[in-house]
Amino acid sequence: MCGIVAYIGPREAYPILIKGLHRLEYRGYDSAGICLLNDDIRVFKCKGKVSDLEAFVEGKNISGNIGMAHTRWATHGEPNTINAHPHFSQNRTIALIHNGIIENYAVLRSELKNRGYQFTSDTDTEVLVHLIEDIMISEQVAVEEAVRVALNQVIGAYAIVILAKEFPDKIIAARKGSPMVIGIGKGEFFVASDATPLIEYTNNVVYLNDEEIAIIERGKELKIKTIKNQSHSPYIQKLSMSLNEIEKGGFEHFMLKEIYEQPRSIFDSMRGRLHIDQGIVTLGGIRDYEQKILNAKRIIIVACGTSWHAGLVGEYLIEDLARIPVEVEYSSEFRYRNPILNEDDVVIAISQSGETADTLAAIDLAKTKGATVLGICNVVGSSIARATHAGVYTHAGPEIGVASTKAFTAQVAVLTLLGLLLAQKKGTLPNSEFHKLLLELDSIPAKVEQILLLNEKIRDIATIYKDVKNSLYLGRGYNFPVALEGALKLKEISYVHAEGYPAAEMKHGPIALIDEHMPVVFIATRRGIYEKVISNIEEVKARKGKIIAIVTEGDESVKNLADHCIEIPDTEEMLIPLLATIPLQLLSYHIAVMRNCNVDQPRNLAKSVTVE
Ligand code: AGP
Ligand code: GLU
Repeated sequence: MCGIVAYIGPREAYPILIKGLHRLEYRGYDSAGICLLNDDIRVFKCKGKVSDLEAFVEGKNISGNIGMAHTRWATHGEPNTINAHPHFSQNRTIALIHNGIIENYAVLRSELKNRGYQFTSDTDTEVLVHLIEDIMISEQVAVEEAVRVALNQVIGAYAIVILAKEFPDKIIAARKGSPMVIGIGKGEFFVASDATPLIEYTNNVVYLNDEEIAIIERGKELKIKTIKNQSHSPYIQKLSMSLNEIEKGGFEHFMLKEIYEQPRSIFDSMRGRLHIDQGIVTLGGIRDYEQKILNAKRIIIVACGTSWHAGLVGEYLIEDLARIPVEVEYSSEFRYRNPILNEDDVVIAISQSGETADTLAAIDLAKTKGATVLGICNVVGSSIARATHAGVYTHAGPEIGVASTKAFTAQVAVLTLLGLLLAQKKGTLPNSEFHKLLLELDSIPAKVEQILLLNEKIRDIATIYKDVKNSLYLGRGYNFPVALEGALKLKEISYVHAEGYPAAEMKHGPIALIDEHMPVVFIATRRGIYEKVISNIEEVKARKGKIIAIVTEGDESVKNLADHCIEIPDTEEMLIPLLATIPLQLLSYHIAVMRNCNVDQPRNLAKSVTVE
């Protein structure tokens, strides 16, 4: 959610900052701003896109080799130019950018107002910059000490960067609950919300931890201390991401590129884990916790959005394969409902970004109750990856499109491996069955490749339905989460209302919606409760609903009923989500493009939701 970039070094800061903001655009935002410092401290900001900011600064003085930039995703105060960051302190000598929420801003604001501070914006952020100035003046301390003292008074989440006119060779950055990474180059430093703005300059990075402050000074070593004033030595890690992974590579949109990457990303998520030759599954990241999971009374999966859908598939898989009870919870509900948890429970947090605030809070809660917490994350080094006791990376590569595609299938692939690993250790599956599943899983990337060849056909179907206002997605068993995910994808990027339901639930309500204008997408593959789904299709047809069906190759029964059939290769029932999801991603993509929607950055959405 929103983004931060900062630079200090020998080069002109502006081009690096703007390019960095473009790289972070995928995270979602509504306004942008920049601050440059040399003799003077200059702030330029505006509502809208980074390109609007570029147009706005044209002809203005944007020189300086130290600066910071921000994209805002409004939480407090409308998305307008005044509320955009950076914000100045009262005497305009300190500028600050912030991602997150200052929860006690109202109290701080009224205290500062009583002391004569005037507020120009409606943001929670502005209190922080006035507070820092107030501490500098009243306690006669330098800016970095004032930042430290101020952060001790703040409740909430923040990633902040501060520039002060008096210190033209210094950047101060700090984080709690919002991500921040520092790139270390030769004689230069970069700060960003994630590694994408840094990788073309350096692959040496330091991830800032919660309540740490970085003091970044020209020509000096990076210094890190906590808000309690303890010094920490920076832990420098190597990034393995490459530049072409975060560029579009000839595709019109990141989302389409990422859909097409799935044969590779699913393969990568299983590489070194699925050993066909030895007939085993290994997951190195959780090896030390295998026994704990096997002995667990139950597994609780916490996640949000698409990752929650992957969690539902995981529930079916783990219960089916390893006979361990699984519950799946929305992180945001779990964290506030006083759940019963104990040391025999294993919590699995699933997150693409590894930064989702609700999931992080759910992890904290589970840890305080003594549960073992494992992570399934895509972003290496992310907060969730670090907050969990152990975990498995999905290795899908950077996902830039806000709508999750390849991260979902990689999560499902990892959960399948987990189910198989637990089954192998527990002996819950006959050998022949186990080996059949391994072989079938190994063939999934090639089958996804086959499905991608249906792109044209799916685009033709999209042409027919692009103007609909509502739609229903129905599936049963393993295809129920697929229906939920298909519906979420459509509403996220095309703004068409879509509902996912278990097919049999239709008769308990949604059936009332069906008429000749209502398209219903059925996931009606031949395995599982196929005949029952056919009855549900009949029920829709009887009410003149339009039927788009995802079916198994060679299917004849559904073909006779449906208006359109998309045939996907056959596979084991529990692996169908890995295949059936792909055509639904393409269908949403084409409908959104035809409706002229911003596919990669849908309105109001953010890639990593770092506020609760
Ligand atoms: C996916 O298309 C969504 N944009 C969203 O639901 C997302 O899955 C959710 O916010 C969770 O994010 P995470 O996986 O990064 O935790
Ligand atoms: N809460 C701050 C605001 O609304 C920061 C939002 C953000 O993270 O961009 O201005």
